[in-house]
Amino acid sequence: MGLKILTEHIAKPGIETFEVYRKNGGYAAVEKALKTMTPDEVVEEVKKSGLRGRGGAGFPAGMKWGFLAKPEGKPRYLVCNADESEPGTFKDRHLMAHSPHTLIEGMIVSSYALGAKTSYIYVRGEMLYVIRILEKAIEEARAKGFLGKNILGTDYSLELYVHPGGGAYICGEETALLESLEGKRGNPRNKPPFPAVSGLYACPTVVNNVETIAAVSWIINNGGETYSKIGVGRSTGTKLISACGNINKPGVYEIELGVPVEEFIYSDEYCGGIAGGKKLKAVVAGGSSVPILPANLITKTANGESRLMTYESLSDGGFATGTMLGSGGFIVFDEDQCIVRNTWNFSRFYHHESCGQCSPCREGTGWMEKVLHRIEHGHGHMRDIDLLVDVAKKIEGNTICPLGDAAAWPVGSAIRHFRDEFEWHIRNPQEATRKGAVYRKEAVLV
Ligand SMILES: Cc1cc2nc3c(=O)[nH]c(=O)nc-3n(C[C@H](O)[C@H](O)[C@H](O)COP(=O)(O)O)c2cc1C
Repeated sequence: MGLKILTEHIAKPGIETFEVYRKNGGYAAVEKALKTMTPDEVVEEVKKSGLRGRGGAGFPAGMKWGFLAKPEGKPRYLVCNADESEPGTFKDRHLMAHSPHTLIEGMIVSSYALGAKTSYIYVRGEMLYVIRILEKAIEEARAKGFLGKNILGTDYSLELYVHPGGGAYICGEETALLESLEGKRGNPRNKPPFPAVSGLYACPTVVNNVETIAAVSWIINNGGETYSKIGVGRSTGTKLISACGNINKPGVYEIELGVPVEEFIYSDEYCGGIAGGKKLKAVVAGGSSVPILPANLITKTANGESRLMTYESLSDGGFATGTMLGSGGFIVFDEDQCIVRNTWNFSRFYHHESCGQCSPCREGTGWMEKVLHRIEHGHGHMRDIDLLVDVAKKIEGNTICPLGDAAAWPVGSAIRHFRDEFEWHIRNPQEATRKGAVYRKEAVLV
């Protein structure tokens, strides 16, 4: 069994209550940080740990904290991004629903480090049950003196609020989230200025993912250096992976970064292999936004090296033969799945979720959905394949926020690796639209 940092106690009965969480060593990091460390020392430990943001981009958390402007007289905010709406990603809700105090403890320590006196957890609005669990846990922590005025008798005071999300995927983009938190429509902001300089209510703000903030308590208890030794290279620590699709054991797994992808898919400790003993066709390794990889490239890199669950190894080969760890939404496709249908499905999602501010994304996502719909439904033309590539290229890099890239990458990568499957759909419309019919290419199956 690999090391568990965030989920060590998650299966213990009653761990969602303050009492049981505390009995299992909970809130020790708050005591240590507030009573024995300065805020700068906490930031320093997080820098040493090498902890990278778990929301998708993998930006070093300590470095982001270091950018926070320190203007006199202006409040500073910590906002936890718990909007979690990416198809395939369901790790944050697992942690919050089962062990809410893990996040709350991390929020207190991180808010202290950043000098925030008011902090927010912005939770996807549809996850009402999670909102209720968090609110109850916050009340418990407050009653025990871990929130509110003069926490544990120190000079430090903190108010922590849960805010229900606006009901759109785009509200997970950090600046759209801040707009939404301010009560406006969740449209991404132009950057610069970045939130570290002008974020919530135009004040310096750090936005971090649930898992990033939750890891801070362990780092304070055990030291940044100890954390930095877990994992491989610049991919330090553990990562929650939500695994779904055609596997025997879908679920949320905490892995030490560096586990081979093949082991993650086939070992009984994790996914337990492909359901029904079928062959593996493809994997989307980091949530719907990252490029899809065929089986032969997900288990091994293009150089034939074992592919690891790390930021670097998954992106080895760039987008030609690699992908991204992203938010850890690991979607597995067996030999019977249709790549065209899946790509169309993802495109419908991005078209629906585009906020509409930027023309390339607003128009392009609609065109990609339409063209994929006609290929999938037997009305495609050969020229449609290059048209899709062209539209995807025109969206990529040309929008205010990365939703445009997130919409373009699944389409570009599906065509890059499975072009023959798109051609087969166009050449054989009758066969391709027959229920259960699927294109098979033995060379990519594992
Ligand atoms: C369309 C879109 C949706 C996003 N959704 C989320 C989300 O639900 N949760 C999250 O933590 N980050 C999400 N992000 C990334 C955030 O913008 C931001 O990078 C992240 O919250 C920073 O936290 P981290 O550094 O701890 O990863 C999203 C980004 C985009 C472009």
